[in-house]
Amino acid sequence: MTPNRPPSQPPPSPLGRRTTKSAEAFSRAVELMPGGVNSPVRAFRSVGGTPVFFKSGEGAEFVDIDGNHYVDFCLSWGPLILGHAHPAVVDAVRQAAAEGLSFGAPSPREVQLSERVLAAFPEMERVRFVSSGTEAVMSACRLARGVTGRPLLLKFAGCYHGHADSMLVKAGSGLVTQGLSDSAGVPDEIAALTVVAPLDDEAALEQIFQAHGPRIAAAIIEPMPANNGLLLQRDELLKKLRDLCTAHGALLIFDEVISGLRLRYGGYGHEVGIQPDLVTLGKIVGGGMPVGAFLGSKAHMEQLAPLGPVYQAGTLSGNPVAMAAGRACLDELVGGGAYQKLEELGRLLDERFARIQGKVPWFRWARRGSVFWLHLSEGPLPRRPDRIAPEARERYVALHGKLLDRGLYLAPSAFEVGFLSTAHTHAHVERLADALETECDALVQRAA
Ligand SMILES: Cc1ncc(COP(=O)(O)O)c(C=O)c1O
Repeated sequence: MTPNRPPSQPPPSPLGRRTTKSAEAFSRAVELMPGGVNSPVRAFRSVGGTPVFFKSGEGAEFVDIDGNHYVDFCLSWGPLILGHAHPAVVDAVRQAAAEGLSFGAPSPREVQLSERVLAAFPEMERVRFVSSGTEAVMSACRLARGVTGRPLLLKFAGCYHGHADSMLVKAGSGLVTQGLSDSAGVPDEIAALTVVAPLDDEAALEQIFQAHGPRIAAAIIEPMPANNGLLLQRDELLKKLRDLCTAHGALLIFDEVISGLRLRYGGYGHEVGIQPDLVTLGKIVGGGMPVGAFLGSKAHMEQLAPLGPVYQAGTLSGNPVAMAAGRACLDELVGGGAYQKLEELGRLLDERFARIQGKVPWFRWARRGSVFWLHLSEGPLPRRPDRIAPEARERYVALHGKLLDRGLYLAPSAFEVGFLSTAHTHAHVERLADALETECDALVQRAA
């Protein structure tokens, strides 16, 4: 969900898909909400066409207000690892809602979800719940500054951490310069407190720590960067970052809003055997309801109010209905069977995509577990955003509307990843692969 996407493209042709009601709803929406949406990428500006308005979803499929059915490979941008309206989650929400929507006071449901989250991250000792990934990151950064008494944050170009001011910062012109604002409304003075590092470059990291080390409160990274394509990093980069943070007394924050609970009942840190100081979660931890969380050691987390001097609060934090959804979702995941199923689906996707690649040389994809990304260009998969080929975006834009017309919903941006859920079947994956094969062939023919 990196901001400032390129402007809109020509709309895809509807090829029989009914779009009247979505188009009407959108024209009303733009009169009421900026861009007609409550989160920019939903506006379809980077793929063209009109956003689809949905009325219901079940399992891996959802239905728009014109009655078109789609297999969903976007899944609300990650939370729906069990698919839409999973019965256990819906039952838990119903029961919790019937007992009260919000207390603004502690409830056992917070304790129950805390137990489950800390079981998934056993080296973390305390968790605090918030209502979004942005809030989790913003709070973790404040905590890191409070704990260390230092002003700077280090982030990586190509990682998205939500829309808090200090995270909407792009790289300055030189490596060891400080950041520039990436959004209007972020004062230069705030942006200058964020240092931006390139991904996939340990030497640059060394240089940055050499220049700024004693002033860096925390380095934050998506250990599995998945917001600007799936830019899988070498473990060495993450190890180097861990070592530099330790050597310079900075905290390491793994932003696992996407990767947390996605590949295993735990985090990406467990996948690679690297322990961060703080972890941020969102998406899956709320089972489809608005929940974020940040986790850390007792010593760090007890710097938070009411025990310590770092203030952080929320009227709806730990909301009982959201906690119930998160708990039900985690209870479905804890046994591990869900992850086995997701990996099996992922392997089928690899097999089928490899067949397409056999015919269409520019067909490339990255996959980790149930997260995949199409990078439709020959050559190695990029590990940095500036290595993403422009033609990969153009091809994705050309395919997106065609896939919609075939009842396949992928994220409306070439820079966003796709997700599989436990509700997907082999048939769903086959359908995606068949459609991609046909449409990629057609693109090749048109280009010839
Ligand atoms: C890694 C990461 N961090 C933070 C966020 C922000 O989360 P939210 O959109 O819930 O505020 C996102 C959202 O996509 C994310 O992917």
